[in-house]
This record gives sequence, structure tokens and C-alpha cells, in this order.
Amino acid sequence: MPELDFPNGFVWGCATSSYQIEGAWNEDGKGDSIWDRFCHEPGHVKGGDTGDVACDHYHRYREDIALMKELGLKSYRFSISWPRVLPRGKGAVNQKGLDFYSRIVDELLAAGITPLPTLFHWDLPQALQDEGGWASRDTAQHFADYCATVVGHLGDRVKTWLVFNEPWVFTILGYLAGYHAPGIRDPELALRTTHIVNVAQGLAVRAVRATGKAENVGTAFSMSGISPASDTEEDRAAAERWHAFSNVWFLETVQNGRYPDAYTGGFDPERFGVQPGDKEIVKAPLDFIGVNLYTRTVVANDPQDPNLGIRRMAPEDAERTDFGWEVYPESIYQIIMRIWNDYRLPIYITENGCSYIDSPDKDGAVNDDRRVSFLERYIAQIGRAIEEGADVRGYYHWTLTDNFEWAEGYNQRFGLVYVDFPTQRRIIKRSGYWYRGLIVANRLP
Ligand code: FCB
Repeated sequence: MPELDFPNGFVWGCATSSYQIEGAWNEDGKGDSIWDRFCHEPGHVKGGDTGDVACDHYHRYREDIALMKELGLKSYRFSISWPRVLPRGKGAVNQKGLDFYSRIVDELLAAGITPLPTLFHWDLPQALQDEGGWASRDTAQHFADYCATVVGHLGDRVKTWLVFNEPWVFTILGYLAGYHAPGIRDPELALRTTHIVNVAQGLAVRAVRATGKAENVGTAFSMSGISPASDTEEDRAAAERWHAFSNVWFLETVQNGRYPDAYTGGFDPERFGVQPGDKEIVKAPLDFIGVNLYTRTVVANDPQDPNLGIRRMAPEDAERTDFGWEVYPESIYQIIMRIWNDYRLPIYITENGCSYIDSPDKDGAVNDDRRVSFLERYIAQIGRAIEEGADVRGYYHWTLTDNFEWAEGYNQRFGLVYVDFPTQRRIIKRSGYWYRGLIVANRLP
């Protein structure tokens, strides 16, 4: 592989989220989130694991920021826990919650690391869930108000914000598959939540801008490269419908005020609960696009499916991570080119990474060679897209430390840094040192 230089100022970082690392689930006035509730009810999370302690980052954030500095990170993407700031989701502010994030921002800036906060990475206040959560339109306005509160307080030091993390995942996995909190399995309700979240996104982007303190606002969208199962016209059209629904359902709306063509029978506004005037509300063009990408999806045409007319296939003999996701580096190149060509906005890779369940050897070293190989191949494809003209400004590795991986609990390990959970000891993995070398050289060896 030839050496590959990245543009000057390319932002290398790591990404995390509040519930997955903070712990301190009931400290300093924090309210319950839907993930607290979901984990505390038996049967939802493997091994009965919870985020009650997680990486204890709430107490160890200084140590973790020192690790970021040691790795040479230029930026750090983290999320703000809504119920830590507003225990009931609205109304009185919990000053101690805001202070925690303010300390994080100060510590990062002192370490020369640019903060990139996400305003919602899935830990909705349980009090709002009790009023319907994302199935209630009121939540959209509460979310915009919460965003304005946080940006109002941290916006003197933080200029770039992500509104949502992966709206498709928390609506579809939370309300249709029931695999994530709040654990609901109601397909029609799930579709309506996607529209309410689109409304929330439009309101929140405006609310963040109205503070006058933010310079750049985006969202981190979940995306996967999509391959048609065969080269037939039917399969290619099916792949296109899946792209519309799974990749750009919350992007085409915010940019252009319309839902993309995903449904074989056309988009039915009534089914989604669209109200007059919503087109104008959901449209609030972003300053940049965050792309979270891990794998690809293979899609075939399927007339039996009354909605999208598709079937997802699992390619045989594919290389897979320990999570089971296919390793398909070219998908990141394909998605960057597609999104760049369709939207012409700066792109940040806001998540990419892999779970490999490696542990320390007898000398205490974690030689996660498979992660290094994964990163070399995916990052090479990002370089290829940049060479072909795509405006990619940064890359945030998912994630810094091994952490609580949602319904999979602590078994999956996505970190550049190993965590021994019983002792909370951190060990930089081989991939962490490799990443540091990449950042220093700004070049893929
Ligand atoms: C993404 C999530 C992130 C993490 C990774 C593995 O979908 O945004 O929190 O769980 O997957």
C-alpha cells in the first residue's frame, strides 16, 4: 500500500457517549434515563449488565482526557446526558450536571483538544418517556429547549455541535425492533417517531443557531454501504430504496424538506403523522454532515415486503468482526462519495471502528492486530475519497475506551484502550499506539 498523506488540519479524534462511559447514574441530581430503566429491567441486556458504573468516567474524566492527550487526539466527540442537565427533561436545570460538562470542556481545551459535543446520544429522560417519549410531538419542543440551554451555557467555549446521534437507530431499534430502550415493538408507531424526530431536528438546529453562539451544527447519521444482491435492475432499485430509508431518512428532510423515495407505494404523510407546515419545520440545512459507518448491507428486491419491497441478505464467507458486522472497507469510500455528490457539504466521519474481544497477554499488552488491520483498510478508503475530491474534514474513531455496548453489555470491546472493568484499569492497546503514530505523521503508512 502506498503512503497516504491527509490534508493539513485534518481532525483526528475519538468518539464516546454519556451512557456508555459515565456511570454515576444517580449522582449529583441526575434524573433517570430510558437506558437506566431499560437496563434495570431484567432480560434486555446480555448478562444483566448496566451502565450504572460503566467506565466510571464521571469520576475519572481527568485520567481519560490525559489518555486522549497521550494518544495525540486533536478532537474529542462526547455526548451530553439530557437527564443530567434536566432531570425531568424540562423545567429546572441541575447546575451540577451542567458543571460536569463545563469541567470536561475546560479540561479538553487545556489539553489542546477541541470538544465536539453531541446533544442526544439516546439517553432520553425517563420522565419524558412516561409522557410518550419520541412518540409524543411535545418531546420535539422539549428537545429544542434543552439544546438551547446547553449551548447557551457551553457555547462561549464550544463552537461546533452535533444535534442527534443516529436518529434512525434510536427510533427503529427503540420502537420497532425493541432491541434498544425503550424496548417498544410497534412498527407503525416507530414510523411516526421518525417524523417527530425529524421535527425535533429542525426545531433543535434553529434553537442552537438562535443562541448566536454556535458556528457549525450537524447530526451524526448512521449509514452503511449498500450493495445490491445482484446486478439486476430490480435489486439495484431495492438497494436504492434501502439507502433512502436507512441512510438519508433524516438527512434528505433536514437538507431539502422532503422524504426520500423509499416506499414502493410512495410516501403516505398520514401514516407518518405529518401535519401541515411540517415541511418547513423539518428543513433546516446543516453546516456539515456526520457519518457513522461500520459495515455494509446487501439488499435484494422482495415483492413480499409491502413497505420497502426489500430483503437484507447476509453474505457468506464474509470477513467479520467479533460483533458479527462484515468488514467491508470500500463501503466508507462509497458512502462518502455518494453523500458528497448528493449534498456538497463538509463531511466528518463521526464514528468508525470495530469490536474485537482481545485481552492482555501475559506481559499485560493488548495486541489487537485485527483492529490495526481494520483501521488501515478503512482509513485508506477515506484517503481515496479525499483524493477524488470529497471534502472530508475529520475522523473520529469509535471509541476511546472499551465501554458499555448497549444491549450487548460489556462483552463487546470497541476501544483503542482496554478497560479491566473490575479495577477500572486502562491499558492502551497496540491500535492506540498505532493511531497515535498516524496522527503525529498525518499520514497512513
Ligand atoms: C453506533 C453507536 C455507538 C456505538 C457503536 C458501536 O451505532 O452510535 O454508540 O454503540 O454503534
